[in-house]
Parts: sequence; C-alpha cells; structure tokens
Amino acid sequence: MSQRRLFVTTALPYANGHFHIGHIMEYIQADIWVRFQRMQGNQVHFVCADDAHGAPIMIAADKAGKTPQQFVADIAAGRKPYLDGFHIAFDNWHSTDAPENHELAQQIYRDLKANDLIETRTIEQFFDPEKNMFLPDRFIKGECPNCHARDQYGDNCEVCGKVYSPTELISPYSALSGAQPVLKQSEHFFFKLSDPRCLAFLDQWTQSGAVQPEVLNKISEWIEPGADGKPKMGDWDISRDAPYFGIEIPDAPGKYFYVWLDAPVGYLASLKNWFDKGGPRALGEPRSFDAFMADPATEQFHFIGKDIITFHTLFWPAMLHFSGRKTPNAVFVHGFLTINNGEKMSKSRGTGLDPLKYLSLGMNPEWLRYYLAAKLGSRNEDVDFNADDFMARVNSDLIGKYINIASRAAGFIAKRFDGQLGEVSADGDNLIDHLQTAAPTITALYAEREYGKALREVMLLADRVNAYVDQNKPWELAKKEGMDARLHDVCTACIESFRLLTLYLKPVLPALAASVEAFLQVQPLQFSDASNLLGAGHRINAYQHLMQRVDVKQLDALFEPPPAAAAELTVPGGEPIADTITIDDFSKIDLRIAQIVNCEAVEGSTKLLRLTLDVGEGRMRNVFSGIASAYAPEDLVGKLTVMVANLAPRKMKFGVSEGMVLAASHADETAEPGIHILNPWPGAKPGMRVR
Ligand code: 2FM
Ligand code: ZN
Repeated sequence: MSQRRLFVTTALPYANGHFHIGHIMEYIQADIWVRFQRMQGNQVHFVCADDAHGAPIMIAADKAGKTPQQFVADIAAGRKPYLDGFHIAFDNWHSTDAPENHELAQQIYRDLKANDLIETRTIEQFFDPEKNMFLPDRFIKGECPNCHARDQYGDNCEVCGKVYSPTELISPYSALSGAQPVLKQSEHFFFKLSDPRCLAFLDQWTQSGAVQPEVLNKISEWIEPGADGKPKMGDWDISRDAPYFGIEIPDAPGKYFYVWLDAPVGYLASLKNWFDKGGPRALGEPRSFDAFMADPATEQFHFIGKDIITFHTLFWPAMLHFSGRKTPNAVFVHGFLTINNGEKMSKSRGTGLDPLKYLSLGMNPEWLRYYLAAKLGSRNEDVDFNADDFMARVNSDLIGKYINIASRAAGFIAKRFDGQLGEVSADGDNLIDHLQTAAPTITALYAEREYGKALREVMLLADRVNAYVDQNKPWELAKKEGMDARLHDVCTACIESFRLLTLYLKPVLPALAASVEAFLQVQPLQFSDASNLLGAGHRINAYQHLMQRVDVKQLDALFEPPPAAAAELTVPGGEPIADTITIDDFSKIDLRIAQIVNCEAVEGSTKLLRLTLDVGEGRMRNVFSGIASAYAPEDLVGKLTVMVANLAPRKMKFGVSEGMVLAASHADETAEPGIHILNPWPGAKPGMRVR
C-alpha cells in the first residue's frame, strides 16, 4: 500500500479560557485517528492553534487590563500540561494572530474578490456611543420582544428561546457601558455565498462523501430550495469595524475580518508554520507548504463539534474552493460530552470533570482515552462520562481482560525459561491465528472512527485468550512434573497474543504500548506487524506491572466540589442565625426590586460603587454600596437587584446614600468567596415589593 499524506486538524479553541473536558475529548478522538494512520504507514501532519481574534476576546482582555496579544499569549502558555498530560501529540500549535494567518487570510480574501464573490453593502447596526464601537449581538441586552424577560442577549432570549435581531429588543442597552445604543450605518463586506456558483459547488461538495449522513441532513436546507423556493443560504457578513482584534481587510482602512473568516484559515497557517520550521522535512516530507497543498494527493481532514457545522461544511469549503485551494476531504463531526448522566456541567455542583484535576489526582490519562474511545463512534452523537461505568470498563476490561494476560504468563517465562519464548503448538497457533485474522476488521473500524466497535472486537479477542489461559491453567502446569514444555508453549501463546492485542490498542493507549514494547523488546508496533510473531527464542524483559486499577476514592475526589463551595455547604459562614422576629418586624423593611440604571467607581474609595437605582418611583436613587471588590461597574449596569427602600438616608463622605443594596457574604466579607449581590429571576420589574 502506498503511503498517504494527511493533514489533520481539530477545531481551534478560543484563546479566552483554559481547556475543558469537551476540548480534551475532541483532541483524543483526533489523536487516536492520527496515531492509527501513522501505524498504517501513512504520513500525517496534525496541527492546531489558538483562535485569538474577535470582540469577546478583545473585551475580556480589556477587563483583565491586558492587551489582546498579551491576554491570548497567557492562555496559550497554559496549554501544554493538558496536551502532554493526555498524550495528545499535535505536531504544531500556532495562533490565528500569527503573521502566516494574516497573510493567508488576506490572500484568500483577494482571491475571492478577484472571483467577484465579495461585495460591500451599507448596513445599520447598534453602536455604543460611550465606548465608541459597534456592538456585537452578544453585547447588546434588553427586554425580550416576545416574553418581556429583561436582560436578554441581542440574538435570542434565554427565557422563551425566541430568535430575533438586536433592533427588536425593547429598551436595548450596551452590556459594555450600559449606554443606550444608537443605530448607525456602516459599510460591510460580504462573501456572496448565495451566488449560484457557490450553491452549485456546495451541493456537489457536501454530497461527495465529505460529511456524515446526519450532517448532510442538517445542512441541506442551506443549499436546497425550501418551501419558499429559496435555500437558507444568504451572503455572509465577513467584516467588522474598528476597534476590533482581528486581521485588517486589504485596502479597507478601519475594517477587519470577522473572526470566523480568519479562524479556519488558522488551520493552514499552523501547517505553513510547521513546514517553514522544517518539521515535515525531518519526517521525510521534502516539499514546501505550497507544494504539499498543491498536490492533489494530499488529504485534508477536520475534526469538529456539532455546534460549528455550518462554518466548516459550507463557509470554509466555499472559501477554499473559490480562492483556488484544495477543499477538505472530510469534516468529522462529534457530539457533546456530558458528565454523569447528562447533568449539565457545573463547577460549583461538582459535576464537571476538570482535566487538570484528573491528572493531579494521579489518574491515568489512558483510562480516560480508553473510556472515551469505547464510547465514541462515527456519528455525531453525544457521549456521556459516567463515573461508575468508567470504573467498571477500565477495571474489568482494560485491566481484568487485557493487562492480566501478560501478568499471568510473563512471570513463568522469566523464572522458568530465562526470559525466552518457546514453540507454540496447534491450539496456541489457532488462537494466535484468530487474533491475526481480526486485523482487517479492526483497522477498518479505526479508519471509520468506530473506536467503540474496534475496542469491542479487541475485548472479544481478549476473552478468547483468557479462555485459553483458563483451559490450560499455567499455574497448575507449573506445579506438575514433566509439563515444562507445555507450560512454555502456553505462556508463549499468551505473550504472542498479548503483543497482538497491544498493537490493536496502541492508537488508544500509546504510553502503555510503549511500555509493552520495552517489555517485549520490540520496535514500535505498526499495523503491518499483525502478520508477524515474536517467535521461539525471542527474549523478553522481566514483567513490571503495567497499569493500576481505578480506585473509587479517586473518582470521589474528582467530583468533589472545589473547596470554596464545600466550605459553604458545611459551615454556613460560621455566623449564627439572628434572634427570632415576627412577621410584623419583617414587614417594616420595605424591600424592592431595583434596576441599576448606572454604576460607577467612586473616586477616592476602593470599596464603594455609586449606583443609580430605579425602584419605579419616577425618580432615581443614589446609593453607595461596598461591593467594588466584587464587581466592575459595567457588569452591573442594566441588572436588576434588591434594595432596602425605606432605610433612612445616610450622609456619607462621598454624598447621601438613599437606601441599601442587598448582598450575600460571610461575616468576613473579604474571605472567599467574597460578596454577591442579589439578582431576581427574570420577569421581576423595578418597584415590585419583595415579601
Ligand atoms: O467554536 C470555537 O471554539 C471556535 N474557536 C472554533 C474555530 S474552529 C476553526 F475554524 F478555527
Ligand atoms: Zn423571551
């Protein structure tokens, strides 16, 4: 079989947070496939990068008091422990803010433009007059036009689920400054995806086998005419106005590419960077990036999650095709990972699975690789991590069925036969033959990303080997007079079988396989080795235990809530409950829902914020609140909270405070987890009494 040349990627993670377990699952899925391809003798370039651009990162950097470049560099600096920890072997990790990406994105744009697929149009958009910037939908909030829930995002309502445009919001406000946004015109650049050429190309590409059938189902409405005779595909707005952290559009001062235009280009940029650094040459790929990408034999694959299908199966292939580039051979979509029966992941409830915590507890990364692989298939279905199931599969399958084969046979080879393998007789040969015959089935399953099915096959083979061990009982043979030759024969068949099982598991368990290769004194296993045997006379090393069992204590610790939340549960702040009062005492306190109309820092005070509150009286209240350590003023603007409305006004150093905002804290406000103001459920209105 001639060697294939593959270019494989995973989705580029936004550089505004550390990896969560969902990222790790995707990387493990892709890493298994890459390792499998390499074991088939194919050459693979496996790359990723940080997705650095866009308004959310720019704003987060600003809040953190960093430049966006600094902000994303700090995130990037934390990537390595996760990748190394789970044996995820990217060849290269780059950034979409790197020069390669600026150049490639601009070139692709020029090529699309030359192909008459770029057009400018003037559109109207909300503009924050205080921050002097156009507001992304996510940064406009207001009242839902449908259910009237307050503080809903500009694109959809989280209460009733309605999808709308920001201009439909009632009383919209900027989530950045609290200011009322104004509509302003701006010239935007569009990629004309509704052009008949694009639709015709996408029709053909999506049906070429490049996407899974269930994905094709989902996206065909974008391409095929619907009830109104038109496909859903519109032209794609690819520009954003300054200030924006992104790549400048050529010959268009103050205009930047929308982050989703340059993000997938980052796949190419990372690959180019890898080529320019000489990595592929060291691996025997003599060509340049350009030559590699121009070769029709080069194959390109992207692993992604089901939330970003349209970008990868419609916009990205069209960008590539109409800029004269190679299009992906396939986009592999996976589902989401849920934890412990689909409970939504939440840190405070302790149901999330923190990848670094997993590693720091000394849990074996290959347990997780094995478990996730056992649950992954070729379809984009969700995968659930279940702690009990995890322990059962690792302990009974991986250790009980597979590792035990070596531990049962290796000792005798070392002690009785000086570490040397012997001859195998007919029944052992049959067993080994059966294992070897499975190779094509298992390779086909790996190739199809049917890891769960592949591992089931391997475990069935392990069952056969264990049945052989149980029939022959080497521990009894060892005690019998004159049975040395048979003992040698049986243990040799076990070690030969163990080697084959290891080969089949190696894409999933690379570190374990390396230990086994050292133990068996063999070169790194390839799939072509399935037809070989170690053979009589081959010497193996002394057996050392290869893998521990999962301890239930580790799982308990993994899902234990973090210390701060645990302290809250066990010690209610250490503050005793106050003396009993009557309902009449309580009703003397007039608590009201208040809207924070404005909020600002108080010059000369590090503790106080000045709040302007609307409690529905037709006037505003001025209230000082000692919450500056916990909230940035702009985070509070527009929010609803609860205030004591009949507290006597108090004259303070900075002015008169006309009430008090309620907040939760321990007796010592400075202790973790700090101060938390109250926020009513959606639907409450300013002025409502709280009773
Ligand atoms: O959804 C995300 O996390 C994006 N950062 C994925 C980008 S994938 C590619 F296009 F860069
Ligand atoms: Zn709503």
